[in-house]
Amino acid sequence: MPPRRYADVPTERRNDALDGVADESAKTPGRPALGLANISLAFGGVAALREINLEVEPGEILAVIGPNGAGKSSLLNIVSGLYRPDRGQMWFGEHSFRDVPTTKLAALGVTRTFQNLALFKGLSVFDNVLMGLAHRVRAGFLRQIVGSPLARRIEAENHAAAEEVIESLHLTKARDRLAGALPYGVQKRVELARALVARPKLLLLDEPFAGVTLAEKRELSLHVRNARDSFGAAIVLIEHDIGVVMGLSDRVAVLDYGRKIADGTPDQVRADPAVIDAYLGVAHEDDKELAI
Ligand SMILES: Nc1ncnc2c1ncn2[C@@H]1O[C@H](COP(=O)(O)OP(=O)(O)OP(=O)(O)O)[C@@H](O)[C@H]1O
Ligand SMILES: [Mg+2]
Repeated sequence: MPPRRYADVPTERRNDALDGVADESAKTPGRPALGLANISLAFGGVAALREINLEVEPGEILAVIGPNGAGKSSLLNIVSGLYRPDRGQMWFGEHSFRDVPTTKLAALGVTRTFQNLALFKGLSVFDNVLMGLAHRVRAGFLRQIVGSPLARRIEAENHAAAEEVIESLHLTKARDRLAGALPYGVQKRVELARALVARPKLLLLDEPFAGVTLAEKRELSLHVRNARDSFGAAIVLIEHDIGVVMGLSDRVAVLDYGRKIADGTPDQVRADPAVIDAYLGVAHEDDKELAI
């Protein structure tokens, strides 16, 4: 079979394209950082995602919004390999997957934060952030080179990267504190630091601003934008605060009952009657917050 490229696979055929592992033969520049084709997922009788098609370009900030239970977290969980889709195909640049091996995520340049924090509560902030670089050297290789100049250099580089991101996210005072002992807003920042330290190509953020103060929200938003501006990360941001969404994102996709009901610029989406009907027209938890 000749190598298939993303552009060569018609939308209606993407379901059955390139099953399983990454297709190393299909290397074409200009691919989206993330492509989803016909992704569907059900839990028993509940359809969490229905035929989702979505692309995120390198350097693009895509917000995913929608009511509670719309399927937003399920989408990120599929992209990060925690859930396996019933149908569909995913593309990370030139790599294609039916279900994403979590072990390959970091090597693909994908990092994420969780709606409910997933820090190592018994480790310091510094060690948590360092975990974001744990994939850089395989354990077996590390054992072979332990104590060598190479091992020391890798360790020094990783430590310097962790220190840099800790400083830029204003976590220096908390550097040696146990993550679990910190206020919620600070823990959210530590999780973002851990996701940023490897300078990901694709950054997946599940409600990174939920439950933080307005001032923290403004500051965290700047760090998210900076990840795009300074190293060109593509970002998928799940967020309920419409002010933040409109101010931060280049494009907005709207989910409702597992379907994508809109996908466009913030202004297009805000004016879309279907979106107003499904989401914007009704009160939701953060609608009193101000824009950044
Ligand atoms: N692990 C799971 N087991 C069973 N059902 C699940 C699971 N994860 C999600 N669901 C269901 O899938 C649907 C989508 O849930 P999901 O968490 O993706 O929504 P969401 O848009 O992130 O909502 P929220 O805004 O409340 O975080 C819901 O009906 C939810 O109950
Ligand atoms: Mg969610």
